[in-house]
Amino acid sequence: MWIFSLECMDQDCLLCPTGFAANTAAIVAIGKVGSLLASGSKPLKHEKIAIFSDALNHASIVDGIRLSGANVYVYRHSDMTHLDLILNNY
Ligand SMILES: Cc1ncc(COP(=O)(O)O)c(C=O)c1O
Repeated sequence: MWIFSLECMDQDCLLCPTGFAANTAAIVAIGKVGSLLASGSKPLKHEKIAIFSDALNHASIVDGIRLSGANVYVYRHSDMTHLDLILNNY
Protein backbone atom coordinates (compact mmCIF):
# COMPACT_ATOMS: atom_id res chain seq x y z
CA MET A 1 0.00 0.00 0.00
CA TRP A 2 1.26 3.46 -0.91
CA ILE A 3 0.55 6.63 1.06
CA PHE A 4 0.70 10.07 -0.55
CA SER A 5 0.94 13.25 1.48
CA LEU A 6 -1.38 15.91 0.11
CA GLU A 7 -0.33 18.95 2.14
CA CYS A 8 -1.61 21.37 -0.48
CA MET A 9 -5.13 20.04 0.06
CA ASP A 10 -7.07 19.61 3.31
CA GLN A 11 -5.97 15.99 3.57
CA ASP A 12 -3.16 14.50 5.57
CA CYS A 13 -2.75 11.58 3.24
CA LEU A 14 -4.38 9.49 0.58
CA LEU A 15 -4.34 5.74 1.10
CA CYS A 16 -4.31 3.60 -2.00
CA PRO A 17 -5.18 -0.07 -1.51
CA THR A 18 -3.13 -1.29 -4.47
CA GLY A 19 -0.13 -0.30 -6.51
CA PHE A 20 -2.45 -0.02 -9.50
CA ALA A 21 -4.64 2.55 -7.75
CA ALA A 22 -1.62 4.47 -6.43
CA ASN A 23 0.00 4.72 -9.87
CA THR A 24 -3.23 5.75 -11.55
CA ALA A 25 -4.04 8.37 -8.90
CA ALA A 26 -0.55 9.88 -9.01
CA ILE A 27 -0.43 10.09 -12.80
CA VAL A 28 -3.93 11.58 -13.03
CA ALA A 29 -2.97 14.21 -10.42
CA ILE A 30 0.20 15.12 -12.33
CA GLY A 31 -1.63 15.24 -15.66
CA LYS A 32 -4.40 17.44 -14.26
CA VAL A 33 -1.94 20.20 -13.26
CA GLY A 34 -2.54 21.63 -16.74
CA SER A 35 -6.22 22.06 -15.86
CA LEU A 36 -5.34 23.98 -12.69
CA LEU A 37 -3.05 26.36 -14.60
CA ALA A 38 -5.29 26.78 -17.65
CA SER A 39 -6.55 30.22 -18.56
CA GLY A 40 -10.06 28.89 -19.23
CA SER A 41 -12.18 26.15 -17.72
CA LYS A 42 -10.56 23.57 -20.01
CA PRO A 43 -6.86 23.60 -20.84
CA LEU A 44 -5.97 24.32 -24.45
CA LYS A 45 -3.67 21.81 -26.16
CA HIS A 46 -0.56 23.88 -25.45
CA GLU A 47 -1.57 24.30 -21.77
CA LYS A 48 -1.80 20.57 -21.09
CA ILE A 49 0.93 18.65 -19.34
CA ALA A 50 3.07 16.55 -21.69
CA ILE A 51 3.84 13.02 -20.52
CA PHE A 52 6.55 10.95 -22.21
CA SER A 53 5.74 7.31 -21.63
CA ASP A 54 7.59 4.05 -22.29
CA ALA A 55 5.56 1.84 -24.68
CA LEU A 56 5.60 -0.99 -22.15
CA ASN A 57 4.63 1.00 -19.08
CA HIS A 58 2.32 -0.81 -16.68
CA ALA A 59 -1.42 -0.60 -17.43
CA SER A 60 -1.91 1.46 -14.25
CA ILE A 61 0.33 4.19 -15.69
CA VAL A 62 -1.30 4.00 -19.12
CA ASP A 63 -4.77 4.28 -17.55
CA GLY A 64 -3.61 7.24 -15.44
CA ILE A 65 -2.27 9.04 -18.51
CA ARG A 66 -5.50 8.45 -20.44
CA LEU A 67 -7.69 9.62 -17.54
CA SER A 68 -5.54 12.70 -16.95
CA GLY A 69 -6.19 14.14 -20.40
CA ALA A 70 -2.50 15.03 -20.71
CA ASN A 71 -0.74 15.10 -24.05
CA VAL A 72 1.06 11.76 -24.31
CA TYR A 73 4.13 10.89 -26.33
CA VAL A 74 5.04 7.21 -26.39
CA TYR A 75 8.62 6.09 -27.05
CA ARG A 76 9.78 2.56 -27.82
CA HIS A 77 10.50 0.44 -24.76
CA SER A 78 13.73 1.56 -23.04
CA ASP A 79 14.81 3.32 -26.23
CA MET A 80 16.45 6.55 -25.04
CA THR A 81 17.41 7.43 -28.63
CA HIS A 82 13.72 7.38 -29.58
CA LEU A 83 12.83 9.40 -26.48
CA ASP A 84 15.53 11.93 -27.37
CA LEU A 85 14.10 12.20 -30.89
CA ILE A 86 10.58 12.80 -29.55
CA LEU A 87 11.85 15.36 -27.03
CA ASN A 88 13.81 17.21 -29.69
CA ASN A 89 10.71 17.43 -31.90
CA TYR A 90 8.49 18.55 -29.02
C1 LIG B 1 4.90 -1.07 -12.15
C2 LIG B 1 3.68 -1.65 -11.50
N1 LIG B 1 2.70 -0.82 -11.11
C3 LIG B 1 1.58 -1.30 -10.51
C4 LIG B 1 1.40 -2.67 -10.29
C5 LIG B 1 0.13 -3.14 -9.66
O1 LIG B 1 0.33 -3.34 -8.31
P1 LIG B 1 -0.85 -4.00 -7.45
O2 LIG B 1 -0.84 -5.45 -7.78
O3 LIG B 1 -0.47 -3.71 -6.02
O4 LIG B 1 -2.14 -3.32 -7.85
C6 LIG B 1 2.38 -3.54 -10.68
C7 LIG B 1 2.19 -4.98 -10.47
O5 LIG B 1 2.95 -5.81 -10.93
C8 LIG B 1 3.55 -3.03 -11.30
O6 LIG B 1 4.51 -3.86 -11.72
